[in-house]
Amino acid sequence: MPAIKNKVTLEKTLQRMYWIEAEMEQLGTWEGRIEMMDDNVAALETLSHDSDRHGDIMKKWLIKANITIPEEAPPGLPKHIFNFDGMANQEMFRSIMKYEILAMNVYKDMKNTNSDIIKELLPNEEDVTDFLTDLEQLIKDEDVHASICKKQIGGFTKVMY
Ligand SMILES: [Fe+2]
Repeated sequence: MPAIKNKVTLEKTLQRMYWIEAEMEQLGTWEGRIEMMDDNVAALETLSHDSDRHGDIMKKWLIKANITIPEEAPPGLPKHIFNFDGMANQEMFRSIMKYEILAMNVYKDMKNTNSDIIKELLPNEEDVTDFLTDLEQLIKDEDVHASICKKQIGGFTKVMY
């Protein structure tokens, strides 16, 4: 059963993912705030850079579908998703990984939405195709992101997907 059952839910999901990607982009700001190894820094930069790109993709679809671009945290999301103060690096990447997996699953839900609902949002056939292509790429990227986090957490930690 598809998780997104109507247009309103799809709209809200787009807004939430825009917000989450914007928060993920901010990961880069933690670079100087906690002590990290070079490998950790490189990982964080990749996650931050890609999230910036992903946020732009969400924004593009919000605009195309005439949906308000959120200026504050959408309902159900905390004002700031991440706070790594006092965390060890492994712990930090563990908490990031949860959101990478969440993002991947939400993009999968969006991609599996009934095409009639997507068409309600995007009446132009070409837009629907582009939207699904974008989601395909986002799912792949988030899968890579989860692996990047997993690598930073290390081989001795059992990670539950
Ligand atoms: Fe990501």
